[in-house]
Amino acid sequence: MKTKTVYILGIESSCDDTAAAVLMDDKILANLTANQTIHSQYGGVVPELASRAHQQNIIPVVKAALKKAGIEASQLSAIAYTNGPGLMGSLLVGVSFAKGFALALGIPIIQINHVQAHILAHFIKKDETTKVPSFPFLCLTVSGGHTQIVLVKDYFDMQVMGETIDDAAGEAFDKSAKILGLEYPGGPLVDKYAKNGNDLKFTFPHPKTKNKLDFSFSGLKTSILYFVNDQVKKDANFIENNMEDLCASIQKTIVSILIKKLIIASEQTGIKQICIAGGVSANSGLRKNLENEAKINEWEIFIPPFEFCTDNGAMIAIAGYYKYIDNNFGSFEVSPKARLPIEQPIL
Ligand code: KG4
Ligand code: ZN
Repeated sequence: MKTKTVYILGIESSCDDTAAAVLMDDKILANLTANQTIHSQYGGVVPELASRAHQQNIIPVVKAALKKAGIEASQLSAIAYTNGPGLMGSLLVGVSFAKGFALALGIPIIQINHVQAHILAHFIKKDETTKVPSFPFLCLTVSGGHTQIVLVKDYFDMQVMGETIDDAAGEAFDKSAKILGLEYPGGPLVDKYAKNGNDLKFTFPHPKTKNKLDFSFSGLKTSILYFVNDQVKKDANFIENNMEDLCASIQKTIVSILIKKLIIASEQTGIKQICIAGGVSANSGLRKNLENEAKINEWEIFIPPFEFCTDNGAMIAIAGYYKYIDNNFGSFEVSPKARLPIEQPIL
């Protein structure tokens, strides 16, 4: 049985955010992220530039997180870090730093699956009033790299019920935004413009998939591209004159595809505790829609605070905390994995 206080440093560097967090047991003391703005001018994350920026950011971010948490490095119980999935050059920076720091401090390391961590972000306590889901629950994980409906049986016992067969939901937002001339990452901008738009103005197709719980977004992107190109031929100002309605209609299409599959998953399993996780769960349309569906279907829904939706260190630290109290430590011989299915143990 655990008696002493556990301090976990969580490090996340799988894509373009360098993030570090400190938890005292399951309570958050610090959660800091250095965002990389360099990628916006290229319209997407450039892996080589991402790993260089991680290298510059990692020490200042970790130092700042420890300072904000008000603890010394010597008080840390363990270091948890993202071992995959992600960009290999980005992962390597966090993994190498975490191993070196842990060796210097003489403390254990804990390897974390990034997608599991997005889901476990629901267990981070901001204070004693934080409501957490109980097992089993369903989680719609929607980010720039992932779109899955996951049956969560326990902290580290998860089963993918459906997933995207091509683009992730975040990519669908970002690629649609790019067609409209918006900067990367376009998801938050689509959300912003959609707030004042008419979501019934334009209709886009809902793709069909063989498995009813799988997703497909690449056809949507193509149909938006063809539609917009046709309209621009007739009216050069079509995009700027219709930006809000276009964004609202695109957002409505993506969100209703996501919600439709969640309803099927809930009906199939009989599970009514529904969570959302990942960067796209910050989307206001998705949040509102989920709240409506909760009333209709008598769901109990869990929507993480914004800071725990996009990539962050706290989700890595909380996953680390649950492995720590289970004595589930990592080996220094394990290397990062660009691909790491949620069901696969980290080896
Ligand atoms: O989880 P995340 O930070 O990183 C990955 O692991 O991919 O997710 C980033 C994705 C991007 O595609 C971004 O455009 C999207 O989340 N995103 C949003 C919103 N905020 C972030 N998409 C739609 N609406 C938002 N408000
Ligand atoms: Zn992520």
